[in-house]
Amino acid sequence: MALAALGLNAAAALAAGASKAQPESQGGKPATSEQPGSNASPAEAGGQAASKAVADVEHGRKIFQTICTHCHRTDYETSPVGAPGLRDVMERHTPEWEDQWLTSPAAFAKRDETAKALVESNPYGLTMPTLPEMQDPRNRRDVIEFLQTLKGD
Ligand code: HEC
Repeated sequence: MALAALGLNAAAALAAGASKAQPESQGGKPATSEQPGSNASPAEAGGQAASKAVADVEHGRKIFQTICTHCHRTDYETSPVGAPGLRDVMERHTPEWEDQWLTSPAAFAKRDETAKALVESNPYGLTMPTLPEMQDPRNRRDVIEFLQTLKGD
């Protein structure tokens, strides 16, 4: 939906540019693309891009509660299924490390010693799966922002 809207905005901007290049060709008749509304589109697109740069901790919390709490607890305790407690987890890893881990734990464990050790140390043999929701960089960023809030008291 958003992408389609952006595409339309781009088309409108192009059309506006083209008609400005040949203002006389229409014989003084205003082109449809020069209607007042058409100018709002690029500004709107810019606003969307800007808001994407800021992590949304509440969105991260929702994702965490929906997906991650199936396996993880937010205190220090290992959960009943054997997933590590995530309190203070961001003191163990950098955001860049988390980003790669969340994208695909198994793939990351092949190239990173810390990730490999984590997977191998799991006493129950359960490995964190590659989650479809974590293929979206925005979701990873927001969840990592939420993980930053899991600090000890
Ligand atoms: C199906 C169970 C499962 C789900 C769902 C899951 N994890 Fe995990 N997670 C694990 C297990 C098990 C480990 C321990 C390493 C391993 O064996 O893969 C782990 C490890 C981690 C670690 C490293 C912890 C440490 O102590 O270094 C982080 C961070 C993490 N998970 C975050 C998440 C987040 C965020 C989500 C939700 C988007 C999530 N996990 C969803 C099972 C899960």
